[in-house]
Amino acid sequence: MTVPIITIDGPSGAGKGTVARLIALELGFHLLDSGAIYRILGLAATNVELKLDDVDSLVSLSNSLELSFPYDAESTQIMLNGASIGDQLRTQAVADAASQVAVHPPVRDALMSLQRRQARAPGLVGDGRDLGTIVFPDADLKIFLDASVEVRAERRYLELIQSSQTVERSVILRDLEIRDVRDRTRKVAPLVPANDAHVIDSSDKTAAQVAADLRDLCQAKGLA
Ligand code: C5P
Repeated sequence: MTVPIITIDGPSGAGKGTVARLIALELGFHLLDSGAIYRILGLAATNVELKLDDVDSLVSLSNSLELSFPYDAESTQIMLNGASIGDQLRTQAVADAASQVAVHPPVRDALMSLQRRQARAPGLVGDGRDLGTIVFPDADLKIFLDASVEVRAERRYLELIQSSQTVERSVILRDLEIRDVRDRTRKVAPLVPANDAHVIDSSDKTAAQVAADLRDLCQAKGLA
């Protein structure tokens, strides 16, 4: 049986995670936060003082991860090998480590089956960078969610402030710009919209408005 799959790709801070959760909740689908997978690998590598270009060790570390993403209306949990891991993934240092480990093709391959295993009945909503292009090329509905870098930096700033982290707006903006360039220009699985993706700019929209757009697209595809 094929499982319906919705992919939401785009740069950091475009609102993918929130919108993915709202749609998954409505449809009763499973959720995949693929950025969290790269963040966990970046964090785990940093914790055991692995170099972020030690590809062989990163691959064996990748093969030891088992993840799931239970969620409710307010938040998504990240369960690693059966235990919940919290806010430690949402720091600038971890985001930067994630985007560094993510450039290595063998690491991306190692994380592919972990991501594909999340596609279970009754369906999956996943967010990331390459879900519509590489991980789930046959997805039923593909979205590319974008927003201006200034709007994305402001959203990230508010998110980090809420989790009591002291950060400067200018530092977030600079980090986002560096990560954007790395994600968009890497040789393997660069951040680009799939040919058949619906591109939505969320700069002037709330998450609820974007979710409403997606609901219409789901209905048109017979997914809702
Ligand atoms: O989405 P999030 O900001 O949590 O992702 C962290 C980093 O993980 C991204 O900057 C990107 O380099 C990497 N990533 C990726 N492919 C994905 C999801 C995330 O390369 N599907």
